[in-house]
Amino acid sequence: MRPTADTSFPAPPRSAGATRRLADLPGPPGRWIVGNLLDVDVGQLHRILYRWADRYGPLYRIRLMQHPMLVVADPVLIHDILRQRPESFMRQRSLRSAMLEVGVDGVFNAEGRDWRRQRALAMHALNTRHLRGFFPRLEAVTGRLQRRWQRAADEGTVLDIQRELMRFTVDVTTGLAFGHDLNTIEQDGDLIQTHMEKLFPALLRRTMAPYPYWRWFRLPADRALDRAMAEVRRLVTSMIEDCRRRVAADPVRRAHPTNFIEAMLAAQDDEARGFSDAEIFGNAITMLVAGEDTTANAISWMLHLMIDRPEVQTRLQAEVDAVLGHADRPLDHAAADGLDYIEAMAHEALRIKPVAPFLSLEPLVDAQIGDVHVPAGTGVLALNGYPGTTGAHFARPDDFRPERWMAAERAPADAHETRAFMPFGAGPRYCPGRHLAMLEIKMVMAMIARHFDVRRAPGTAPAEELFAFTLMPKDLFVQLVPRAPAGVTAAGG
Ligand code: HEM
Repeated sequence: MRPTADTSFPAPPRSAGATRRLADLPGPPGRWIVGNLLDVDVGQLHRILYRWADRYGPLYRIRLMQHPMLVVADPVLIHDILRQRPESFMRQRSLRSAMLEVGVDGVFNAEGRDWRRQRALAMHALNTRHLRGFFPRLEAVTGRLQRRWQRAADEGTVLDIQRELMRFTVDVTTGLAFGHDLNTIEQDGDLIQTHMEKLFPALLRRTMAPYPYWRWFRLPADRALDRAMAEVRRLVTSMIEDCRRRVAADPVRRAHPTNFIEAMLAAQDDEARGFSDAEIFGNAITMLVAGEDTTANAISWMLHLMIDRPEVQTRLQAEVDAVLGHADRPLDHAAADGLDYIEAMAHEALRIKPVAPFLSLEPLVDAQIGDVHVPAGTGVLALNGYPGTTGAHFARPDDFRPERWMAAERAPADAHETRAFMPFGAGPRYCPGRHLAMLEIKMVMAMIARHFDVRRAPGTAPAEELFAFTLMPKDLFVQLVPRAPAGVTAAGG
């Protein structure tokens, strides 16, 4: 039941017929000068692109101002593109430069040889052996969240659950990447999250902007972004300096670094691998950015989808009670491993609500995508989340049915094409944080199921989708009601 990142997906058949040009493709009619720019409500961008895929098919074109772009919705073609990185495709230049301009310069937007060096270290830092070593800390952070939510449940407080979860994901990522106990869960007030939440909307706005006006003058939103990123930089720099002091003072730590940043610092002496201070800083921010919203959104969507399916909540609680016994939450890695239904729920939520719904790329050299000739530098949007939402690949695609991911419970005739499920991307650049994300999901969901019933907050409507670089639920307010199964301690952890 681990369907993602299938790099052995077969190459798509090439059309024997004539090659089409971008201009030959179907697509939404554009307006003079602006093209399709005004058709796009940025907060619903993913839905608009998916709707156009329904209408115009697996390969269509759009135009934003003077930039024609190819949109790819076919899973075979998407795999084919993603696997040709970093040699033939790169992340789209406009996204890359928007990230560089705000100082997020790490493995996500590195290319070529730089990417290979940084990727090796990121994979190492996030591999399962490191995650096992990190488990006690993850368990402790989950315990803090449990106590915070027990207080909220006792007082009947309504929770803005996505924001709550971002406290958890930031504490986990800073613990794993920097060895730093930031502990935003036990704090109130001006947290790093309030600064970081300015980043994604700004990146989105700038990648969609007709002209890079901010290079000449700053609007209030740009000035707010500058202030926010200055705060993030200050915090990240101080955490890197802590790591630097620890590595300098301890030869054992230098030989056996205990986290991602220490590993980069220790490698600075190595001529071949040496990382510049800028790369270390860029990757520190990259880890924070890549690990914060994505996982918090995934858990939020799981809760959102579960609220309307009481039988899912009941089955979740039954699994957790059976696997945890009397424990408050998974106390070792093996317990988390045994939570198959939570994993199925996570896959199902990521299928219906793909947190990273498309990838922006461009070919480095002239390319052939299906039967379309794509000149180097053309924007290519790969709709990695789209195939999972279609009936061609998943039976009754709108239904939230975690059981479909449990092979023994799936109706044999039901469409279930796991290779069309790409929430973590695919090919050599697939998400290196997916094991961490799944572990975080299991810890939080198990802790919730053990202690609480999750209800929609009275008087609130179901949350809506908001695309802000990642896909998040807008205004997901929930109430946690204490659950009292036999054997659960009142105080918790
Ligand atoms: C449910 C949670 C997550 C989702 C849905 C997700 C999704 C993705 C996707 C779609 C990509 C692009 C892959 C590609 O280009 O093929 C990506 C890249 C990346 N993710 Fe995640 N991610 C999640 C959690 C995390 C976490 C927890 C971390 C680390 C703390 C992380 C670190 C990264 C990094 C460093 C990259 C860049 C990889 C590269 O360019 O080589 N992600 N992620």
